Amino acid sequence: MTQSDIKPQQFLRSLWYFALHASALRPGTLLRKIILGEPVLFGRTEMGEPFALRDLCPHRGVPLSAGKIRQGTVECPYHGWRFKPSGKCTLIPSLVGQEGVEPSKIHVRSYKIAERNGLIWVYMPDETQPAIQAIAPPDLPLWSEAKPTLIEAQLFPCSIDHAVVGLMDPAHGPFVHKAWWWRSQKSIHAKAKKYAPSHLGFTMVTHKPSSNSTLYKILGGDISTEISFQLPGIRVEHIKAGRNLVLGLTTCTPLTEDETEVTQTFFWNIGWIAPFKPIAQHIARVFLGQDRHMVTLQKEGLKFNPRLMLIQDADTPAIWYHRLKKEWVEAEAAQRAFVNPVQETTLRWRS
Ligand code: FES
Ligand SMILES: [Fe+2]
Repeated sequence: MTQSDIKPQQFLRSLWYFALHASALRPGTLLRKIILGEPVLFGRTEMGEPFALRDLCPHRGVPLSAGKIRQGTVECPYHGWRFKPSGKCTLIPSLVGQEGVEPSKIHVRSYKIAERNGLIWVYMPDETQPAIQAIAPPDLPLWSEAKPTLIEAQLFPCSIDHAVVGLMDPAHGPFVHKAWWWRSQKSIHAKAKKYAPSHLGFTMVTHKPSSNSTLYKILGGDISTEISFQLPGIRVEHIKAGRNLVLGLTTCTPLTEDETEVTQTFFWNIGWIAPFKPIAQHIARVFLGQDRHMVTLQKEGLKFNPRLMLIQDADTPAIWYHRLKKEWVEAEAAQRAFVNPVQETTLRWRS
């Protein structure tokens, strides 16, 4: 099977994307980010309220992120117009009062955001049509006060599709992630994993992880792991070993058509890991860097616009990703309910 007929660079809308970590947005700060090709300003008022606005002053286009937070509003650096977190203009300093200009009639586009467990998600609406499915931000299996214990973010020079497909690809591990602490090519063996459809995606149902990975052995105990994927590009790996929990969240956020921010965020409740955090950080950086290196190489080939292949069963998750994406676009366009195209099945491959 070749790549699906969906336009490779089509961004999915009416969905939540991972934006940034709450720890990066202290009260009184403004931060600019391009998401889905749009300039977005993330801010937090002095009172701690997070918000997101289009990062573009409606007066003359200056990025509002270059301004300041003042009394719960964003002040544009050019002429000092002020905007509330809702996007409504509250002040135009140049007005003397007889111009008939009403600031409150002027708005900057605001984005819905959600902050939970130290993560900030942003909802990217479709401006051309109403959303038919009411989607909530991803519901992670975390205890309420859980905060990230480790964060590693890298910019991948590729579309979200290649970032997602690369991350869910089970066959590249022994070639790309060669390391004594992970695994080697010699350890390749046949695998069979059960998959089931789940919310906006699919889940590799709870199983014992590969006995050939050193990292899992360190956790010890009666270990089980569940890996799920959901649109637009969110992967959750939930590892349980007795009372020890590790949650690995990988998010792919397209900044532009050929730049995707891949962020790995870990949560754990295991106290003794703390002294080893620098090592864990190093491992995360190396590991994600290996994936990044591969899409950087791939970019050289993609310049020639080749036809690509997806083969059974190792590439079946990638095929599902394209089908899910296509179904999402079609369901929204037809204003009908989304029907998960994934069927329960067992996939077999060697890795
Ligand atoms: S450009 Fe922002 S106030 Fe004039
Ligand atoms: Fe990888």
